[in-house]
Amino acid sequence: MLTILGVAGGNGLEHIPRDRVEKVYGVDVNAAYLAAAAARHPELAGVLECVRTDLAEEPCRLPEAELLIADLLVEYIGCPCFQRVIRQVRPEYVSCVLQINAEGGWVSDSPYLHAFDALEAVHHDLDGGALETAMLAIGCRVIGRTERELPNGKKFLRMDFQRA
Ligand SMILES: C[S@@+](CC[C@H](N)C(=O)[O-])C[C@H]1O[C@@H](n2cnc3c(N)ncnc32)[C@H](O)[C@@H]1O
Repeated sequence: MLTILGVAGGNGLEHIPRDRVEKVYGVDVNAAYLAAAAARHPELAGVLECVRTDLAEEPCRLPEAELLIADLLVEYIGCPCFQRVIRQVRPEYVSCVLQINAEGGWVSDSPYLHAFDALEAVHHDLDGGALETAMLAIGCRVIGRTERELPNGKKFLRMDFQRA
């Protein structure tokens, strides 16, 4: 069982080996994104189960899974909420990607800059140390850490965790 939080439109689901994964829970607050994810991946019919929920709201009901993936999501729900979700899903492994921002802020300059204004209220600027501390507090230790530089001074930080 695999759970992907903030699955959005399903980018990357094409890498799921159908024959080795019984069930994938794709979780997002946005119903239109989930519909797009399912429509884009008909090969995962019967495997991909889309769950529309606002993770920041309680109570949310998520099934248990061995692996939980949360890329570019913890910034939106914050560490305490993420800890709550992990306690519920009880994964053995957790993999997260954080966007580490340069001084220019978390949204890159573009004609669409202000389209993201409303997200300011829910966005948490998070670094790897804060996530590691939060994960250790619920018994998950870091087992992998990789960084990928982005062109505008930002970077993606991937952190993998295992439950002790
Ligand atoms: C920045 S996108 C990341 C999408 C994808 N994981 C990726 O790495 O490209 C964040 C996703 O999290 C979802 N999201 C944000 N807040 C959420 C919440 N409170 N509950 C559930 N999903 C949420 C958004 O709808 C969006 O699809």
